[in-house]
Amino acid sequence: MNLFAFDDAACGRLAREGTPLFAYSLAAAEAQFRALREALPPRVRLAYAVKANPHPRLLQLFGELGASFDCASAGELARVAELAPGRILYAGPGKRTAELDLALSLGVRVQAEGWEDLERLERLAPGPVAVNLRVHPAGGIQEGSPIIGGTGPSAFGVDEEDLPLLLKRAGSLRKVAIRGLHVFAASNERDASRLLATHRHVLGMARLLQEALGTELEQVDLGGGLGIPYAAGEAPLDVGALGRGLGELLAACPWFTGELVLEPGRFLAGPCGVYLTRVTRVKESRGVRFVILEGGVNHLLRPLLTGQAFPTRAVASGGAKRPATLAGPLCTSLDRLGEVELPEVAPGTLLAMGMAGAYGFTEAMTPFLSHPAPRERWEA
Ligand SMILES: Cc1ncc(COP(=O)(O)O)c(C=O)c1O
Repeated sequence: MNLFAFDDAACGRLAREGTPLFAYSLAAAEAQFRALREALPPRVRLAYAVKANPHPRLLQLFGELGASFDCASAGELARVAELAPGRILYAGPGKRTAELDLALSLGVRVQAEGWEDLERLERLAPGPVAVNLRVHPAGGIQEGSPIIGGTGPSAFGVDEEDLPLLLKRAGSLRKVAIRGLHVFAASNERDASRLLATHRHVLGMARLLQEALGTELEQVDLGGGLGIPYAAGEAPLDVGALGRGLGELLAACPWFTGELVLEPGRFLAGPCGVYLTRVTRVKESRGVRFVILEGGVNHLLRPLLTGQAFPTRAVASGGAKRPATLAGPLCTSLDRLGEVELPEVAPGTLLAMGMAGAYGFTEAMTPFLSHPAPRERWEA
């Protein structure tokens, strides 16, 4: 898979307008969306997770391609309310009452994260409202990244072992009806068989929930977590295998007549973006080559969270490569963008970081140390 949405010539042209810059390719985003959509059975709804990249151009594109949207704040709801009425889901472990009110007024499908959401919706809803219940599994699911997923303690959803008590309490609800299940169990998983193993487990939970409720579930939301490669040689997710597996899963669950939902963010938005920055300084320090850039964790946080650099190349610069530690301009030793291999670089050399369309600018600590924000630019 090509880890860079723009070649050297395009990177050079884009950088002439100024760096640091997030450059995005609409064509790459569309290709990624279509590849996934075409691989999935029609009974799988595709909901783009807005948090991955909430830029209006991207939301517009995905909306036109028929996407639903997974939102996690009133701000995200406002961004997509008019683009996809009737196709919006709303999750979040700490919803404020005003946000629930907004979701109700927009007819958004709420993922209730616990009794508090159910109870407040019961008070706020003017009439009947169907919701999904977000459950945090107790076991049977492969550990995902430490950031989200896994089976340990979690701020998200109802712990699976607390479900019976919650369902008993939910019996008192008059307006709010649980009609779906939501489980987010993995993060950046590129192995279709591991994703499918978690999805099988979730369908097992859905069957128990359906039996306990005594009514058919309309939706089983399998969350996001579809992975992308961040290094040369990492295999991309086989969407064909994922689609076939989900088709087989639906066929094996004749008791479930509703729809499945996938909520990928990273997979849909990551590959379309490239972060462009110039080298400001190179320092050799006790055997380590520090390459200091115009932007650091104020523009890209992911390397600090995961320990993995974005795929990085020096634009139009050849020669033998050797290790480099990427650092930003911030006066803190936290400002590291990972270890990469680069040829000789100097102040002014342009670097491109690929797969930066998701959890790039949106996840950055932009105000930290008051450097200018990076620009964003969309290309056809
Ligand atoms: C509820 C929910 N859905 C979907 C996503 C998107 O996940 P990813 O970008 O890994 O596909 C997230 C990410 O945090 C999430 O919290």
